[in-house]
Amino acid sequence: MVFLRFSFLAALVALAIATPTDRSAFIVHEHRAQPASGFVSTGPAPSDAELTLRIALNPNNIAGLESELNAVSDPSSSRYGQHLTPEEACCWIRQAQFRRALRRHFLAPDKQDLCDYNLPGWRRLAVQDTRFPGKLALQHRVSVFTHSATDETTIRTLRYSLPVELSGAVAYVHPTTTFSRPFAVPKPQPLPSNSKRDTDPTCADITTISCLQGEYGIPTTSATQTNNVLGPSGVSGYDNEFANFNDLKQFLAKYRPDFPATTKFDVELLDGGYNTQVTGFAGVEASLDIQYTVGVASGVPVKFISVGPLNNDTVSGFLDQINALISDPSRPTVLTTSYGFDEEDLTLPVAQGLCNAYAQLGALGTSILFSSGDGGVAGNEFECTTFVPTAPSTCPWVTSVGSSQTILENFTKNNFSEIGAAFSSGGFSNYFAAPAYQKGDVDAYISSLGDTYNGLFNTTGRGFPDVSAEGVNFVVVAGNETGLVSGTSASSPVFASVIPLLNDELIAAGKSPLGFLNPFLYSPAGRAALNDVSDGKNPGCGTSGFNATVGWDPVTGLGSPSYPKLRTAVGLS
Ligand SMILES: *[C@@H]1O[C@H](CO)[C@@H](O)[C@H](O)[C@H]1NC(C)=O
Ligand SMILES: *[C@@H]1O[C@H](CO)[C@@H](O)[C@H](O)[C@H]1NC(C)=O
Ligand SMILES: *[C@@H]1O[C@H](CO)[C@@H](O)[C@H](O)[C@H]1NC(C)=O
Ligand SMILES: *[C@@H]1O[C@H](CO)[C@@H](O)[C@H](O)[C@H]1NC(C)=O
Ligand SMILES: *[C@@H]1O[C@H](CO)[C@@H](O)[C@H](O)[C@H]1NC(C)=O
Ligand SMILES: *[C@@H]1O[C@H](CO)[C@@H](O)[C@H](O)[C@H]1NC(C)=O
Repeated sequence: MVFLRFSFLAALVALAIATPTDRSAFIVHEHRAQPASGFVSTGPAPSDAELTLRIALNPNNIAGLESELNAVSDPSSSRYGQHLTPEEACCWIRQAQFRRALRRHFLAPDKQDLCDYNLPGWRRLAVQDTRFPGKLALQHRVSVFTHSATDETTIRTLRYSLPVELSGAVAYVHPTTTFSRPFAVPKPQPLPSNSKRDTDPTCADITTISCLQGEYGIPTTSATQTNNVLGPSGVSGYDNEFANFNDLKQFLAKYRPDFPATTKFDVELLDGGYNTQVTGFAGVEASLDIQYTVGVASGVPVKFISVGPLNNDTVSGFLDQINALISDPSRPTVLTTSYGFDEEDLTLPVAQGLCNAYAQLGALGTSILFSSGDGGVAGNEFECTTFVPTAPSTCPWVTSVGSSQTILENFTKNNFSEIGAAFSSGGFSNYFAAPAYQKGDVDAYISSLGDTYNGLFNTTGRGFPDVSAEGVNFVVVAGNETGLVSGTSASSPVFASVIPLLNDELIAAGKSPLGFLNPFLYSPAGRAALNDVSDGKNPGCGTSGFNATVGWDPVTGLGSPSYPKLRTAVGLS
């Protein structure tokens, strides 16, 4: 990855007419017709504005990495569970060609070992402003784009060019044509007003840890393997949020009174992430994610990985996080992220770059879970003429988690039923094709639709979510206040907390942790260990959305976890 301080004064490079043999010629590398929705151009960028650009190379053989990932993640493979080392994963990423050309244009690193790239095809290299040769043409118009709802401004372009001899080797230059809009933050609702109660034995109005344990048969006993063997569960933090230790303490005292009072979580800060611990400023999302990982995954070490604002760009934050985890020998074995984008906000190369990085991390043995989004088939849009898939959920190498809702009446342990939550985002990617592990499910669902929604979604795309979990009325303590939060943001931590408990038992039995989950989840044994959710729908874009059905569907995926069945399915007796 090349970091370039790029001043727009220097950017006014005249475009040469590209001829294939002319080394100095430039060719348009990425362009988009209009900014991401919600952004309007509010004038040219000031001439002294600067962007820190990264240059990502195409990986050497991404199909090879994907095939390795499947080989170690598919229970029917002889190599199941034999996760790759970073060096092994790197073989599929190393991009040896174009080194000279890169050096010519971008002062490539002296280092010969291109395995130094932690992210597929990325180069880390500090380049001084003054040494930058100014050969990268951010072509035409670099503008200030203002996000209408928040007035936040960002500098982007709708197209840029690269030297012809490099265009084939470079995946993307970022940030240029990819937009990251502010995340929607969950707003806690007050506790049920009748009694101001904060527990509910029937689980009818309030979801607590014990409700989830009851519903899904999640063990209440502590993980037994020592921390450094089991590895931490990672919880991603963005948006300058932190989770407050006192909030967690208060939450656990009430909802996990069996836990030691010293129960805490670790914090890792990247890119200037915040952890001020000031009461009143704790983030609701961070509090939710931490309380339902620490609280559900009994005895599992949890690490909050807070990615700060130094990039001025969330997509760069996602890239930095994954980069840091790939090169971290004590990387989490499970990672849950309750943040995402509309797929269309990312350009295809950037979405692919992120997805390649998740494939790499998955091949090393980390289970990566993302919430699917809270806008039904509309993603993050209020108005839409076609359905809006969300990223990184549409990446085939992550596990996307949608939301279900318990039919609350007459809830008893081991006798409850779930329907898909109306906000649960799901649908089909416009960027990634349905991968082999789910192709049959996606084809069957789409053929059952007939002509319904013709033209509103991509019939060959990767379907999401993969699975679901309860996501309604979670009690959360944030900033010393107790409230209720709903969303797929709640569901991903719950599903993600089942995994380290299984890993703990697997390790105790001398087996490997689960790693990339989907080939297992979609296998006959895996799907039989999930509670199929076959009712509910996810409206949006002026439609009633998709229906949850028997089998996989784009509202609740394959269904919610049943711990006892999952234990058996992963080979524990
Ligand atoms: C982020 O914005 C600040 C203020 O404009 C600027 O000083 C800084 O260099 C920017 N960071 C990057 C990585 O571009
Ligand atoms: C819940 O139980 C009550 C009383 O037994 C019964 O009348 C009602 O139909 C039940 N509701 C559902 C959804 O089964
Ligand atoms: C489960 O609950 C339903 C609805 O209340 C009831 O009809 C059924 O008998 C219950 N089943 C068991 C096994 O308790
Ligand atoms: C539909 O998805 C495929 C990948 O399955 C992609 O190649 C194609 O471009 C997409 N079509 C549209 C119109 O987005
Ligand atoms: C948190 O709230 C409780 C009352 O619910 C109060 O006693 C306590 O002082 C508060 N703590 C802080 C740090 O504000
Ligand atoms: C969803 O189910 C309802 C009721 O069965 C049906 O009328 C509707 O056509 C279905 N919609 C889709 C998109 O499958």
